Amino acid sequence: MKNKKIIIIGGGVIGLGLGWQLAKAGTSVSIYERDEAGRAASWAAAGMLAPLAEAHTEEPELLKLGCQSLARYPQWVAELEADAGMPIGYRMEGTLIVGLEPDDTHQLRHLYTSQQNLGLDVEWLTGRAARAIEPALSPRLTAAIRCESDHQVDNRLMVKALQRAYQKCGGALHENNAVEAIHIENGIATGIKTLAGEKHNGDVIVLSAGCESAQIQGLPDDLRPPVRPVKGQMLALQMEAGITVKNVIRTVRARYPTSVYLVPRTDGRLIVGATSEEMGFDTRLTAGGMFELLRGAWEAVPGVYELPLLETWTGLRPGSRDNAPILGETPVESLIYATGHYRNGILLTPITAYEIAKLILTGETSETIVRFRLERFLR
Ligand code: GLY
Repeated sequence: MKNKKIIIIGGGVIGLGLGWQLAKAGTSVSIYERDEAGRAASWAAAGMLAPLAEAHTEEPELLKLGCQSLARYPQWVAELEADAGMPIGYRMEGTLIVGLEPDDTHQLRHLYTSQQNLGLDVEWLTGRAARAIEPALSPRLTAAIRCESDHQVDNRLMVKALQRAYQKCGGALHENNAVEAIHIENGIATGIKTLAGEKHNGDVIVLSAGCESAQIQGLPDDLRPPVRPVKGQMLALQMEAGITVKNVIRTVRARYPTSVYLVPRTDGRLIVGATSEEMGFDTRLTAGGMFELLRGAWEAVPGVYELPLLETWTGLRPGSRDNAPILGETPVESLIYATGHYRNGILLTPITAYEIAKLILTGETSETIVRFRLERFLR
């Protein structure tokens, strides 16, 4: 496989992470990216590594995959920071899921019971105990769940590090070079055609184009990955003396449409997210979206009222039909999918990169990803 040519469609964290692993193993890799590498969902993300807080307990397979990927983060961070020569802001303070009124406490209690039934490492806290950990939290807090093993990484630093490591290992990155179609001949993927009309042959084609994955031409209709954009609006505040948090905070709001999360960065930014909207490829910010985020953040941490607003943005999550990623072989020979990571792209990057690289290098699909193949939607 080392002499073969791999083409990756999409230069987000998934494409870059996989490309880095393959280039490091000595294969010839080319990534084609429609814009600038890593500036779509990978850039918009909050970087939470939160299988416990983010995954639904009724999605046990996804939860397991998330926990497996989280377990590989320390190795991933050490390897990437060494190869890229830069830090990526991995932090291990944990996550607090908080409730602000009695209805929220009921919902939290329900979540806690489900988490306990799954044997997850979570702790029930009174509002007072949660405030002892994070004094900036509201005195209204009724209860909290502490997920100590849910960590975070600075996703924007990870994008930069992956790009650097990939290129240092010899990977070719073609930015502003969108792929229009995958070429399939007699059931075998043999190459791609770019929007600019160039044709490139490859021995393996990997589709990792996030929410654009279903737009690529050349695939039989039933084999298009069932991935759609799910819009998230976000904002960043600047933490100041007296109004700082260390843990990731998530709210449970039984009576409001939007629960929020607050993610403190080492550089003092406080990321607040996110709406979840089925609006197709619309990326506009709305007054309502910003209002819900600011209200949710202010209710949980009243001091945010005073903080400077640094940035607002939207991202499009690549949501699959069952919220889980689509990983591995497809019925088309030499065509591999690594897409549909939905709310968990940053968390699932290590397991995707390591396992898909292994698949390409050895031809074997591991037990870890076998149930996430496209095949599950074709039955
Ligand atoms: N993982 C956070 C989000 O999708 O909003």
